[in-house]
Amino acid sequence: REDKDLLGKKILITAGPTVESIDPVRFITNHSSGKMGYALAEAASKRGAKVTLVSGPTNLTPPCHVKFISIKSTLDMYEAVMSNFRQQDIIIKSAAVADYRPKDVVDKKIKKQEGDLSITLVRNPDILLELGKIKDDRVLVGFAAETDHLIEYAKEKIIKKNLDFIVANDVTQQGAGFGTDTNIVCLIDKNNHIKKIDKATKLEIAHQILNKTKEFYQ
Ligand code: C5P
Repeated sequence: REDKDLLGKKILITAGPTVESIDPVRFITNHSSGKMGYALAEAASKRGAKVTLVSGPTNLTPPCHVKFISIKSTLDMYEAVMSNFRQQDIIIKSAAVADYRPKDVVDKKIKKQEGDLSITLVRNPDILLELGKIKDDRVLVGFAAETDHLIEYAKEKIIKKNLDFIVANDVTQQGAGFGTDTNIVCLIDKNNHIKKIDKATKLEIAHQILNKTKEFYQ
């Protein structure tokens, strides 16, 4: 693709998992590989956009020519996103964000003890929900990974988080979701248009997501 159709557009993309520390040696995280977000960053950058990539730990190399911000926890991601939000035209939140974090992060390794151990988790901020409140005419895109009621939950999320559209994937399908190079997604927008994209590489899907953003910016 030679088109520079996103020339000068500023796009912030979040990718990968977040990591929540329990103690100096233990943490809570998820299976996100970051592949979808990195594919988006690569595609957007090739099309001429100025890309900021905010990423949790992954095994991937960030594409050249993007502003790369490496983060660990959801609170780190919240800060990085909020301090770069204002200048953006488009924000795509493909990261798998931890909804909870341990209430107390202890600075010494927790010792085994007799019997069970409980860790109290507290809610993390929902970054996308907060962005929805201040988006103005920025294009806001969320992701939804579900195992059931895909379309129904996606539509609820569009309303609740004030999104332009959502990329919904059924993580139970073969060739979709975490770690794979391919994905099977539906693009569902705030006007209730649903576009099903058959199994394709994450890079191809990234281009389709970027095409869709063009329907929403002024
Ligand atoms: O509500 P749910 O977690 O399924 O929504 C997924 C979308 O919300 C993703 O785009 C994800 O990046 C974003 N999210 C967030 N902050 C959270 C939880 C999810 O930005 N604490």
